[in-house]
Amino acid sequence: MNTPASPGSPYGTLPTATVPASRKPVSLPRLREMHAQGEKISMLTAYDATFAAVADAAGVECILVGDSLGMVCQGLSSTVGVSLETMRYHTESVVRGLRRVQGTAWVIGDLPFGTYHESREQALRSATVLMQAGAHMVKLEGGGWTADIVRFLTERGVPVCAHLGLTPQSVHALGGYRIQGRDEDSAATLLRQAREIQDAGASMLVLELMPASLGAQVTQALDIPVIGIGAGPDCSGQVLVLHDMLGLTPGKLPRFVRNFMDGAASVQDAVRAYVQAVKSGAFPQAQVHTY
Ligand code: KIV
Repeated sequence: MNTPASPGSPYGTLPTATVPASRKPVSLPRLREMHAQGEKISMLTAYDATFAAVADAAGVECILVGDSLGMVCQGLSSTVGVSLETMRYHTESVVRGLRRVQGTAWVIGDLPFGTYHESREQALRSATVLMQAGAHMVKLEGGGWTADIVRFLTERGVPVCAHLGLTPQSVHALGGYRIQGRDEDSAATLLRQAREIQDAGASMLVLELMPASLGAQVTQALDIPVIGIGAGPDCSGQVLVLHDMLGLTPGKLPRFVRNFMDGAASVQDAVRAYVQAVKSGAFPQAQVHTY
């Protein structure tokens, strides 16, 4: 008896595997190896199963479930209003999407505002929520006071990515989305904080919105991979917000963003072009995307 062909789901069901079987899961040792060999690391935000699968299939090594989802998905005016429960939900969605396609990307969950500021114990409780949702690493913003938290988390088996420079959760304290580390004093403070965070055990650092020369100096000074967003071409890798690099964000974008949909036949092609441009060093371009 013939079984009628399944009509299939009309709701964009993910395929069960899109990633070449030869590709190994990205791990901390693999990221360290890439860094040691001078291979640029590509990172992109994703907030749901479909885009996580697209990014993974394109070869993105690190997927950041960023709290930028507050603006991108929730329509908030900053990341300050994002809750831990929202981050858990999106982290789970991303991880589920990756599992469906046997994805290999390293997943970083952003700890939102107010969920690691009170105490080391609070930070561990919040990190536990994201790690149990499937994240491999958590990210937190700020320097100085965060070193103690980074040490507490890493000693307890939670890999940590720190975030310095423009730290969007502090947008109100910083007086807007301004370029950081422009004068000698603030550049020296940032460099010191980066060293402290590395000494405390962070395995990765995101640097946002600063002169390319400072991005290069911090990257040179550290042993861990430094991922830039508006921090120049000399970082160990680059990250962009997915919706920005797909040209979906309305209005004027910061100069460090490039629209990879320009000339791309599909979203998949655009993400592949991003990975290639990061790997080859073609993005970001000095003068064009830098400060
Ligand atoms: O939340 C986010 O997407 C981020 C990146 C901009 C680095 O923190």
